Amino acid sequence: MGWWHLGRWEVRMGEDGMVALAKGQWGQGVGTSKGTVGMDTHVPKAGNVLRTHVSPSLSVPPVAHMFCCPQGQSTEEGLRQVDTLVAQYHHGCLWWGLPWLPVLRLFHPRTTPWVPSADLGVPSPGEGLLLSNGQRWARHRRLLTPAFHGDVLRNYLGIFNQSTRAKWGAAAAAAGGGPVELEVLQPLSLLTLDTLQKCIFSHESHCQEQPSKYIQAILELSSLVVRRQLQPLLHPWWLYSLSSDGRRFARACATVHAFTADVVQRRRRALACLGHQAWLDGHRGRSMDFIDLLLLTKDENGHTLSDEDIAAEADTFMFEGHDTTASGLAWLFYNLASHPEHQERCRQEVQELLAGRDTADIEWEDLSQLPFTTMCIKESLRLHPPVTAVSRRCTEDIPLRDGRVIPKGVICLMSIYGTHHNPDLWPEPEVFNPLRFSPENSKGRSPSSFIPFSAGPRNCIGQSFAMAEMKVAVALTLSRFVLRRDNARPPPRRKPELILRAQDGLWLLLEPLVGVA
Ligand code: HEM
Repeated sequence: MGWWHLGRWEVRMGEDGMVALAKGQWGQGVGTSKGTVGMDTHVPKAGNVLRTHVSPSLSVPPVAHMFCCPQGQSTEEGLRQVDTLVAQYHHGCLWWGLPWLPVLRLFHPRTTPWVPSADLGVPSPGEGLLLSNGQRWARHRRLLTPAFHGDVLRNYLGIFNQSTRAKWGAAAAAAGGGPVELEVLQPLSLLTLDTLQKCIFSHESHCQEQPSKYIQAILELSSLVVRRQLQPLLHPWWLYSLSSDGRRFARACATVHAFTADVVQRRRRALACLGHQAWLDGHRGRSMDFIDLLLLTKDENGHTLSDEDIAAEADTFMFEGHDTTASGLAWLFYNLASHPEHQERCRQEVQELLAGRDTADIEWEDLSQLPFTTMCIKESLRLHPPVTAVSRRCTEDIPLRDGRVIPKGVICLMSIYGTHHNPDLWPEPEVFNPLRFSPENSKGRSPSSFIPFSAGPRNCIGQSFAMAEMKVAVALTLSRFVLRRDNARPPPRRKPELILRAQDGLWLLLEPLVGVA
């Protein structure tokens, strides 16, 4: 029998091939085995102990992979490996990042603890909601939540419509009436950046038509963050800041921060100058953007957010909201192109909704009138979740529903991809079947089986915003184009980075519908 001493708790491998993570002191020893072990939920529980089975069939995961990308390898093969683990362990398994670094990978609502602490280890350009913790996070979450209420979001529908039209108008003009072949993820990122910049700052950068320094800086930050994740040597900030990437990161941050600080300060001065009432009167008939809302918000003691806080939150929305939504849309387009029968049913739903109208805009009330399109969006987010995993370090012992405990200090990787591909929860998980989300088929399913926006107190604050934007974008796209796969290209190889991408891009053919101007 061999075992490891891990601070206040230990890992022990017994003669029966079992491994236990336990609290308490067991003495000294030498480790005999490293590798992937599965949490076996059928073993009898022994007090405050998490028991696991050694997996003889799985090799030791390369340390570098685990260190670089908590999902495993950030490649198609890495995701297939998750499929294999899920098929074998169903609930979760234990990985060794380093010999002293156990990481629990969890794939099932029964074992997934939605703990409120965020410890992501992901560098980001500011300390907004995503990266803050404790009381600061709780206060900000309370103050920001009303900014995502339906009464506010409905005002952004005009912007979603306008940005989508700008996107496809330019694409159709460039194609001169014929089919256009496009890598869709990159233009959809520009589309979502365009809408966010309008909704957050009321700023028209026309970034879909011409280069914008600010938008370039946001895109550069996203790619630098991914590159840094893959280079453990550059994780210490002081080393990173000396590297050429670190200097580019600092320059891009300065561009983003200068833009945001300028908008916030100008608005603050205008508010101070006009006073609250005149400011509100000035907005009558025109919607407020996020900056307005954050300037006006107050906590229960009447305290407002500082300019720095507002800027950090606005930057977080830009950073967190653009690529995620673009990935969701790009894979949705891909799935609809791969399933023409579902695509046609969505198109008919949209055409019936818009028939006999003066305007071809999708309005707030329309969003609930697109049930099949909504099912397709959900099924696409299940099959291709934009965020494939979230990680948490437990800041206290976490009791699971079945009585076992995850000891404080353990890193848990909640695998959104693994949960969505778990055959226990989703029969034939690789099949794109929107009817899984019909009201009849959804009955009795745990809400924690479908978690593209995470779950628990730290779930995505922007999920209604993202769903509304995706519905408008897909409805307007289908009312104008037929989406087709280009059969000359091989199927895309998935690439889970900060968001789910495709290794060589997601290429689709957009064919203008006959008779649509
Ligand atoms: C399809 C689109 C989106 C997906 C799939 C998505 C997914 C997620 C996930 C999985 C988390 C949890 C991250 C973690 O805990 O590690 C998260 C958090 C967050 N998301 Fe989104 N997101 C999307 C769109 C948006 C949009 C449009 C915004 C803002 C306009 C946004 C703002 C945020 C923020 C601020 C957080 C941190 C919340 C907190 O910690 O309290 N997201 N998102």
